Amino acid sequence: MCGIVGYIGSNTAADILLEGLTNLEYRGYDSSGIALNIDGKVQLFKAQGKLQNLKNIVQNNYAEISKSKIGIGHIRWATHGVPSIENAHPHTCNCGRLAVVHNGIIENFKELKVKLEAQGCTFRSQTDTETIAHLVASKFAQTKDLTEAVRLATKEIEGAYAIAVIHQDVEGTIVATRRNAPLVIGFGEGENFVGSDIPALIQYTKKAMYLDDNQIVTMTADSVKVIDSDNNPVALKIENLPWEPVALSKMGYKHFMLKEIHEQPDIVRNVLTGKLSTSDEPVILKEVTLDREKLKDLSRIQIVACGTSLHAAMIGKYIIEDFCGVPVDVEPSSEYIYRKTITDENTLVIGVSQSGETADTITAVRQAKKKGSHILIVTNRPDSTMAREADSLVPVNAGIEVSVAATKSYMAQVISFYLLAIYMAEVKNSMPKEELTDLKHELVILPQKIEKILTNKDEIQKCARKFSSFKDFIFVARGINFPTALEGALKLKEISYINATGYSAGELKHGPIAMLDDSMPVLAVLMKGKVYDKILSNAEEAKARNARMIALTDSEDEKLEELFENIIRIPEISEILSPALAIVPLQLLAYYIAEFLGKDVDQPRNLAKSVTVE
Ligand code: AGP
Repeated sequence: MCGIVGYIGSNTAADILLEGLTNLEYRGYDSSGIALNIDGKVQLFKAQGKLQNLKNIVQNNYAEISKSKIGIGHIRWATHGVPSIENAHPHTCNCGRLAVVHNGIIENFKELKVKLEAQGCTFRSQTDTETIAHLVASKFAQTKDLTEAVRLATKEIEGAYAIAVIHQDVEGTIVATRRNAPLVIGFGEGENFVGSDIPALIQYTKKAMYLDDNQIVTMTADSVKVIDSDNNPVALKIENLPWEPVALSKMGYKHFMLKEIHEQPDIVRNVLTGKLSTSDEPVILKEVTLDREKLKDLSRIQIVACGTSLHAAMIGKYIIEDFCGVPVDVEPSSEYIYRKTITDENTLVIGVSQSGETADTITAVRQAKKKGSHILIVTNRPDSTMAREADSLVPVNAGIEVSVAATKSYMAQVISFYLLAIYMAEVKNSMPKEELTDLKHELVILPQKIEKILTNKDEIQKCARKFSSFKDFIFVARGINFPTALEGALKLKEISYINATGYSAGELKHGPIAMLDDSMPVLAVLMKGKVYDKILSNAEEAKARNARMIALTDSEDEKLEELFENIIRIPEISEILSPALAIVPLQLLAYYIAEFLGKDVDQPRNLAKSVTVE
């Protein structure tokens, strides 16, 4: 949530800051701003709304702005105070000589504000961030040392933050720090960078260092120094980032979401690489360190996640219980953290998160860790805060996902759960070898089936055009595809704002059926297997109430033609693996509906890519 970028060097700072903010725009986009040092004076440029508005301001003042070789920038997802120019970052102190950008939430900002106002500070915004500006400025007035001022200020701040500060009395220097919010330093030749996430700097350097909690970095164009909160020097741990800048290009697709949907066959191949070579060999999960004997004796598993990751977790529950016979509970992290959960050292707790920065899930795994549980993290970001809490890790290898609507990361999480479930079943010897061999073979050939769907999208587009004007949408499924219905509905609602809900098909007649009439499309996920006939009966019941019926199926059954006005057919697949295939047409359906409606597909309103506040 929110994005930070900072630059010091010999190039035009504004260009680099705007480029960085463009690459962070998926993290929040209700206002933005930059602070530059122009001719020895700190100046702020801010805009409400999309980043383009800030770009226009910069363009109109470019002659002046381009003189600056140092600056900090921010793109905001509002938490305290409405999206407005006053509330947009950077924020400053009374004298205006200091500027600060901030991600996170300052929990004691009200108390700090009262204290600072009593000292004469005048607040101009409703944000919690402004307290940091006044606090650091007051410490600077005492110490005349920006690093020390930041260090002393952070002793008084409670909450989560990543901040970057410049001060016009300390020319050519950026000071930045973090606690429970990510911050990364980028190292260049005669220039240095700081960002809240790698996309902010990947265009310019691949040499980076992740800052740990409470570490403070002081950077000039030629030097980077890191200290801890007690003023001890910290050795630089520079690593080479595995990311390619091309990940931030749409590669000819109209939207990142469409590009990312199309990347899925390769994502499946990536996830399998090094973990599953052939169907005859066991699954290898090198970073799962849970002792094999302990794994055999596990009494329960709890999975915590949010949103799309929660849906992947629900599939995980289904297959782990099926393959291993261990009870698995899945719970939204935001619920898990506010009740007395039965968690102990015999419980394996799995946290699932694309970003690895989701606040609720981080809190949930930290709580479980305190109770002695082994923590396994399934994430797309092995460099994230959550991954650092892990005892065991399953990196999902989906590459950078830019679109706010998660697609390829969901696919990677789902495939990772199949690998984890097979791995556990092999350790526990809980499933016939032949069944596992068949499943592994199906996993290996899954990418080709996804490719078939991606090359034949006519029926999906036809369906999207036909139903794009409807105000409501119901998705139904049963068994292992119930989470597919939930995820299909989530994709549609988050990017098209259509009121879409997923139900277990068997639940329809216990209430939701009352809503059905000819203004309600009902999409049934109807994959061949145990519950096929049951869903068919549920679909008949819906049809009898005049609902507009759509089928997503791998069946060639001709009688479907009578019941459904649109049928999206996908390649045949075993029921157990079907969620990995069935989700693809639903992602495309949501995409095309939003596209027909002219919605901002990659940056839907009110959302942000990673939700770093509870
Ligand atoms: C997915 O399309 C959503 N944008 C959202 O539900 C997301 O999955 C959720 O916020 C969890 O994020 P995480 O996977 O990064 O933890």
